[in-house]
Amino acid sequence: MKRSRVNEIIREADDFIRSHGFVLPPFAYWTPKEMVEKRPLIGGIIGARLGWDITDYGEGRFEEMGLFLFTVRNGSEEDLRRGGGMCYAEKIMISRKDQISPMHRHVVKAEDIINRGGATLALKLYNSGPDGGIDHESDVEVATDGVLRRQEAGAVLRLAPGESVTLLPGNWHAFWGEGGDVLIGEVSTVNNDLTDNIFAEPIGRFADIEEDEDPLHLLVADYGKWFA
Ligand SMILES: [Fe+2]
Repeated sequence: MKRSRVNEIIREADDFIRSHGFVLPPFAYWTPKEMVEKRPLIGGIIGARLGWDITDYGEGRFEEMGLFLFTVRNGSEEDLRRGGGMCYAEKIMISRKDQISPMHRHVVKAEDIINRGGATLALKLYNSGPDGGIDHESDVEVATDGVLRRQEAGAVLRLAPGESVTLLPGNWHAFWGEGGDVLIGEVSTVNNDLTDNIFAEPIGRFADIEEDEDPLHLLVADYGKWFA
């Protein structure tokens, strides 16, 4: 994925997010240079990997398979192990029309996936089998805003704006915007995208970036290189 395309997606996403009345925190708008200057003060941003995250899952077909994410807050895995403190995280995401976030599950993270506005959010759901793989047989039961819903393996759950689903570790899920682009909220357990995503197909979590212009803002995947 070219950096110029990443920059363009950031601009488009910012407009879309604002059009739904959600505003990103100040650090979203710092330039790479400003982040470097503020480095001594922003260990909490770098360490928790807060910020811009655009992925094509390493496949180079962002329009068909990809996701825009911005991690707004993220707690501490140490707190999670201890069982107290900052055990939560929040993201704002955009799935474009028919843009797939591929089938995956989490080991640690429970997540509420929330349609915060726009089109319909479609999610294909499966349970895990005894080996952790996709169970193509058993019915899936999930809570949607506190209400239990039961559907066949691989059926599509559709959420209108305002609706959400609670996905527990082991719930296999893929999702996309149906009929248009969707603004998606995620409220979850502490998030670790380096270790806690298991994909059904052998794909990556992050994009390979070709540097054809300067970054408008750093992606979380850039932090390792910029703040070694
Ligand atoms: Fe997920």
